[in-house]
Parts: sequence; structure tokens; C-alpha cells
Amino acid sequence: MKNILVVGSAGQIGSELTLLLRTIYGSDRVVAGIRKTKPSQKLIDTGPCEVVDALDTDALVSVVDKYKINMIINMAAILSGTGEKNPMLAWDVNMNGLINILELARERKMDQVLVPSSIAVFGPTTPRENTPQDTILKPTTMYGVTKVAGELLGDYYVKKYGLDVRGLRYPGIISHETLPGGGTTDYAVAIYYEAVRQKKYTCFVNEHTRLPMMYMPDCLKATVDLMEADFDKLRYHCDYNIGAMDFTVADMVASVKKHIPDFEISYAPDFRQEIADSWPNSLDDTAAREDWGWKPDYDLDAMTADMLEAITRKHEQGLI
Ligand code: SER
Repeated sequence: MKNILVVGSAGQIGSELTLLLRTIYGSDRVVAGIRKTKPSQKLIDTGPCEVVDALDTDALVSVVDKYKINMIINMAAILSGTGEKNPMLAWDVNMNGLINILELARERKMDQVLVPSSIAVFGPTTPRENTPQDTILKPTTMYGVTKVAGELLGDYYVKKYGLDVRGLRYPGIISHETLPGGGTTDYAVAIYYEAVRQKKYTCFVNEHTRLPMMYMPDCLKATVDLMEADFDKLRYHCDYNIGAMDFTVADMVASVKKHIPDFEISYAPDFRQEIADSWPNSLDDTAAREDWGWKPDYDLDAMTADMLEAITRKHEQGLI
């Protein structure tokens, strides 16, 4: 029986993942760990919520004991944009938070820890097209540095202590429930929101910027499928490439215009352009496909139709 703590439960991925896990494993068995971000009413109503800061070991231990937690999913992180503004904060949250969780999981002999990684582990010297699973990891952001170190640390706990630690390299994640915060790929979400709200958007990367992206339903499927995969079949542990789609900003605008023809975009690239330019265009995810059956469902146009419908509904209801 899994008793799961999701650290960073109020965030973009954590909020939807926690709700999904409650439907799979039982509402009372999935604890939403919240720090500063206000949780949604759905999160509060559907199961236990606790204040959890991975940097506060005593508080973490008391929640783990209270709910007999045997699996931790660590969704708390400072992303690339915020990380460049405050590198020490990114290091502190992303590294010290992670090692606290891994140490606690080791001491309590937990069944599993899931720690997501990111395309931010790659850098300007990494091959950009169909980026291999095993390749150059020399990122130029603090977020990327912490994600490379996090992958290595997770793999170390697997090898040294036999702890089951798993992770996958998320591309930019696009969703309509909870907004992302502080990432370079956030423009992709903002384009959909502003297309509905204002019919115009000023983008902080240029129109030629191409990045790997993924729609939230695929992100959730990948996460749960990796959690459930047979440990003995995993050739990798904390660093699976997963791909779904890749497109330029111009491709995205063309997709949006099929629904909102008068949508206008302008460009004012800022410091995040350099970050985006240092990341891959597309990923080779053969290992994930072979080891645990990864296969995405959504392409750009299917995602656009779904996103615009959901955001339009929210807009009509006065929620955004
Ligand atoms: N979405 C993240 C960011 O842009 C990448 O993992 O920072």
C-alpha cells in the first residue's frame, strides 16, 4: 500500500498530480505538501494537506510519521528564470531540499522517491537535435546545475543504498489548471491565456525559438507510468529523456490562429532567450519507450484545441 507525500503540491505539476494520485491510490493516502503557494480548493477538499518545507527537516519528519509515508514525490523547485535572479535560493531549495528528502527516505527505508529532472540539464554544447539519453551535461543556468546534480545524487542513492529513486527530464509543461512560475518555457502557457484574454501577447523569446514541450495529461501519464514501472527493467534511474512535441513560437502562433485568427504577437526577448537557446530542440526518448512503454498522446494542434477550450471556459466564468 502506497502512502505518498507530494512535496510542492500547489505548483503547476504538483497540483494536478496530487489529484490524480488520490484517484488512483485513495484520497487519504496522498498528502499534499504545501509551502507558500496557496493550494486550490480542490486540493484542500479531496485529501490531507500539510505545510511541508523540504528545508525544515523536523516538520518533514513529523508529516512522514503522521501519515506513515513510504513514498515521496519532490515537485518543489526553483525554475530557470527565478534561479538566474536568485542562484543561491535555487541551490538551497533544489539541492538541500532534495538531500533532506533522500536522507529521510534512506533512514526510513521508504519504497520509492520520485524526483523530476528537466531539459535544463543540457547546455549549449549538447547536441540539439534528437538529444541522446547519454550526452554532454554542461548547463549554464543554476537550475540546470542543480538538476544535473540532482540526477547524480538520486543515482548515487540507488547504487550506494539500494533506495528506489526515479526521475524523468520534463520538457516545458503546458497546462490550464495551475500557472507555471519562474520558468523559461512559461511563454508557451502565457500565449494561450493571453490569446483568450487579450488577443495579443508580447513574447520574451523570439519567434524562431524551438523547444521540446508536453501537454499536462502526457506529463501526468509519464510520471505515473515511471512510478509504476518494474524497477528491474529500468536501465536508467533519475534521468529519463521524455519527448512529446517540439515547435517554434511561430508554429504555436499559427496553431492558435486556427481558432483565434486575430491573435497578435510581438517579441521582446529578455535574458530567457539565452537560456532557451542553450536547450535542445528535440529529444531522443527511446530508452523511456523501451524500458517503461512511454508514448505521448498529444501533438501541438490537439493541445491547442484543448487548452483554448478550457481557458475560454474559465474566462467566460470570470475565473481568469
Ligand atoms: N519549465 C522549466 C523551465 O523553464 C524547464 O524544466 O525552467
